[in-house]
Amino acid sequence: MHMTATRAPLLVYFSSLSGNTAKFVAKLGLPAVRIPLRSSEPALTIDEPFVLVTPTYGGGQGRGEEKGAVPKQVIRFLNDENNRRLIRGVISAGNTNFGAAFCLAGDIISRKCNVPHLYRLELFGTPEDVDRVSEGLEQWWKQH
Ligand SMILES: Cc1cc2nc3c(=O)[nH]c(=O)nc-3n(C[C@H](O)[C@H](O)[C@H](O)COP(=O)(O)O)c2cc1C
Repeated sequence: MHMTATRAPLLVYFSSLSGNTAKFVAKLGLPAVRIPLRSSEPALTIDEPFVLVTPTYGGGQGRGEEKGAVPKQVIRFLNDENNRRLIRGVISAGNTNFGAAFCLAGDIISRKCNVPHLYRLELFGTPEDVDRVSEGLEQWWKQH
Protein backbone atom coordinates (compact mmCIF):
# COMPACT_ATOMS: atom_id res chain seq x y z
CA MET A 1 0.00 0.00 0.00
CA HIS A 2 1.27 3.51 -0.74
CA MET A 3 1.93 5.84 2.18
CA THR A 4 -0.57 8.35 0.86
CA ALA A 5 -3.33 5.80 1.21
CA THR A 6 -2.81 5.20 4.91
CA ARG A 7 -5.32 6.80 7.26
CA ALA A 8 -2.95 7.03 10.16
CA PRO A 9 0.76 6.84 10.81
CA LEU A 10 2.56 3.79 12.06
CA LEU A 11 2.88 3.82 15.83
CA VAL A 12 6.17 2.83 17.40
CA TYR A 13 5.85 2.38 21.15
CA PHE A 14 7.68 1.34 24.25
CA SER A 15 6.05 -0.23 27.27
CA SER A 16 7.67 -1.76 30.34
CA LEU A 17 6.48 -4.89 32.14
CA SER A 18 3.56 -2.99 33.67
CA GLY A 19 2.23 -2.77 30.11
CA ASN A 20 0.13 0.40 30.42
CA THR A 21 1.32 1.93 27.15
CA ALA A 22 0.88 -1.37 25.32
CA LYS A 23 -2.71 -1.48 26.59
CA PHE A 24 -3.38 2.06 25.36
CA VAL A 25 -1.85 1.40 21.93
CA ALA A 26 -3.87 -1.81 21.55
CA LYS A 27 -7.07 0.18 22.13
CA LEU A 28 -6.20 2.50 19.23
CA GLY A 29 -6.28 -0.44 16.84
CA LEU A 30 -3.64 1.05 14.53
CA PRO A 31 -0.58 -0.64 13.05
CA ALA A 32 2.01 -0.63 15.82
CA VAL A 33 5.49 -1.95 16.49
CA ARG A 34 6.94 -2.38 19.96
CA ILE A 35 10.46 -1.31 20.92
CA PRO A 36 12.14 -4.32 22.60
CA LEU A 37 12.30 -4.32 26.39
CA ARG A 38 15.63 -6.08 26.69
CA SER A 39 18.94 -4.99 25.22
CA SER A 40 19.65 -8.64 24.35
CA GLU A 41 16.81 -8.53 21.80
CA PRO A 42 17.65 -7.37 18.25
CA ALA A 43 17.46 -3.60 17.82
CA LEU A 44 14.37 -2.28 16.04
CA THR A 45 14.82 -0.47 12.72
CA ILE A 46 11.89 1.35 11.11
CA ASP A 47 11.68 2.36 7.45
CA GLU A 48 8.54 4.51 7.28
CA PRO A 49 7.34 7.67 9.06
CA PHE A 50 5.96 7.01 12.53
CA VAL A 51 4.59 8.54 15.70
CA LEU A 52 6.35 7.47 18.88
CA VAL A 53 4.33 6.56 21.98
CA THR A 54 6.38 6.43 25.17
CA PRO A 55 5.88 6.37 28.92
CA THR A 56 7.93 8.62 31.20
CA TYR A 57 10.24 7.20 33.84
CA GLY A 58 12.81 8.79 36.07
CA GLY A 59 10.38 9.79 38.77
CA GLY A 60 10.78 13.54 38.43
CA GLN A 61 14.09 13.81 40.22
CA GLY A 62 13.64 17.47 41.07
CA ARG A 63 13.05 20.67 39.13
CA GLY A 64 14.77 20.80 35.79
CA GLU A 65 16.05 17.26 36.29
CA GLU A 66 15.41 15.30 33.16
CA LYS A 67 17.68 12.36 33.77
CA GLY A 68 16.03 9.03 33.14
CA ALA A 69 12.71 10.46 31.96
CA VAL A 70 13.08 8.91 28.50
CA PRO A 71 13.33 5.10 28.84
CA LYS A 72 16.77 3.85 27.84
CA GLN A 73 15.21 1.52 25.29
CA VAL A 74 13.68 4.56 23.56
CA ILE A 75 17.00 6.40 23.64
CA ARG A 76 18.69 3.41 22.03
CA PHE A 77 16.00 3.31 19.33
CA LEU A 78 16.28 7.06 18.60
CA ASN A 79 20.06 7.01 18.61
CA ASP A 80 19.77 5.14 15.32
CA GLU A 81 19.76 7.91 12.71
CA ASN A 82 17.63 5.76 10.37
CA ASN A 83 14.88 5.74 12.97
CA ARG A 84 15.30 9.31 14.20
CA ARG A 85 14.86 10.86 10.77
CA LEU A 86 11.43 9.18 10.43
CA ILE A 87 9.82 10.33 13.68
CA ARG A 88 6.98 12.76 12.98
CA GLY A 89 5.48 13.29 16.41
CA VAL A 90 5.42 11.99 19.97
CA ILE A 91 2.63 10.92 22.32
CA SER A 92 3.61 10.51 25.95
CA ALA A 93 2.19 8.67 28.92
CA GLY A 94 2.78 9.27 32.59
CA ASN A 95 1.20 9.83 35.94
CA THR A 96 0.17 13.27 37.23
CA ASN A 97 1.52 12.26 40.68
CA PHE A 98 4.89 13.23 39.25
CA GLY A 99 3.88 16.88 39.04
CA ALA A 100 6.16 18.93 36.81
CA ALA A 101 7.69 15.72 35.48
CA PHE A 102 4.33 14.55 34.14
CA CYS A 103 4.96 13.22 30.63
CA LEU A 104 8.40 14.80 30.61
CA ALA A 105 9.72 12.18 28.17
CA GLY A 106 7.46 13.64 25.47
CA ASP A 107 8.75 17.16 26.07
CA ILE A 108 12.36 16.01 25.84
CA ILE A 109 11.87 13.99 22.65
CA SER A 110 9.82 16.77 21.06
CA ARG A 111 12.62 19.24 21.68
CA LYS A 112 15.50 16.98 20.70
CA CYS A 113 13.89 15.59 17.56
CA ASN A 114 12.07 18.81 16.66
CA VAL A 115 8.66 17.17 16.30
CA PRO A 116 5.32 18.07 17.93
CA HIS A 117 4.31 16.66 21.32
CA LEU A 118 0.88 15.60 20.14
CA TYR A 119 -0.78 14.30 23.31
CA ARG A 120 -0.22 13.48 26.98
CA LEU A 121 -2.16 10.77 28.76
CA GLU A 122 -2.22 9.10 32.14
CA LEU A 123 -1.39 5.43 32.54
CA PHE A 124 -3.30 3.41 29.91
CA GLY A 125 -5.60 6.31 28.99
CA THR A 126 -9.32 6.86 29.35
CA PRO A 127 -11.88 6.01 26.64
CA GLU A 128 -11.87 9.74 25.90
CA ASP A 129 -8.09 9.67 25.34
CA VAL A 130 -8.55 6.77 22.93
CA ASP A 131 -11.18 8.69 20.93
CA ARG A 132 -9.24 11.95 20.91
CA VAL A 133 -5.98 10.33 19.85
CA SER A 134 -7.65 8.20 17.14
CA GLU A 135 -9.44 11.19 15.64
CA GLY A 136 -6.56 13.57 16.18
CA LEU A 137 -4.01 11.28 14.52
CA GLU A 138 -6.22 10.73 11.51
CA GLN A 139 -6.81 14.47 11.01
CA TRP A 140 -3.19 15.38 11.64
CA TRP A 141 -1.81 12.65 9.39
CA LYS A 142 -3.83 13.91 6.43
CA GLN A 143 -1.80 17.10 6.55
CA HIS A 144 1.50 15.21 6.46
C1 LIG B 1 9.78 4.20 38.71
C2 LIG B 1 8.74 4.98 37.98
C3 LIG B 1 9.03 6.31 37.65
C4 LIG B 1 8.07 7.08 36.95
N1 LIG B 1 8.35 8.39 36.65
C5 LIG B 1 7.42 9.14 36.02
C6 LIG B 1 7.66 10.51 35.72
O1 LIG B 1 8.73 11.06 36.00
N2 LIG B 1 6.69 11.21 35.09
C7 LIG B 1 5.49 10.66 34.74
O2 LIG B 1 4.65 11.35 34.17
N3 LIG B 1 5.23 9.36 35.01
C8 LIG B 1 6.15 8.59 35.65
N4 LIG B 1 5.89 7.28 35.93
C9 LIG B 1 4.57 6.71 35.53
C10 LIG B 1 4.65 5.89 34.25
O3 LIG B 1 5.00 6.69 33.15
C11 LIG B 1 3.27 5.27 33.99
O4 LIG B 1 2.99 4.35 35.01
C12 LIG B 1 3.18 4.60 32.64
O5 LIG B 1 1.85 4.25 32.39
C13 LIG B 1 4.07 3.36 32.54
O6 LIG B 1 3.90 2.80 31.25
P1 LIG B 1 4.24 1.27 30.93
O7 LIG B 1 3.43 0.43 31.88
O8 LIG B 1 3.83 1.09 29.50
O9 LIG B 1 5.71 1.11 31.12
C14 LIG B 1 6.82 6.51 36.60
C15 LIG B 1 6.55 5.17 36.93
C16 LIG B 1 7.49 4.42 37.61
C17 LIG B 1 7.16 2.98 37.95
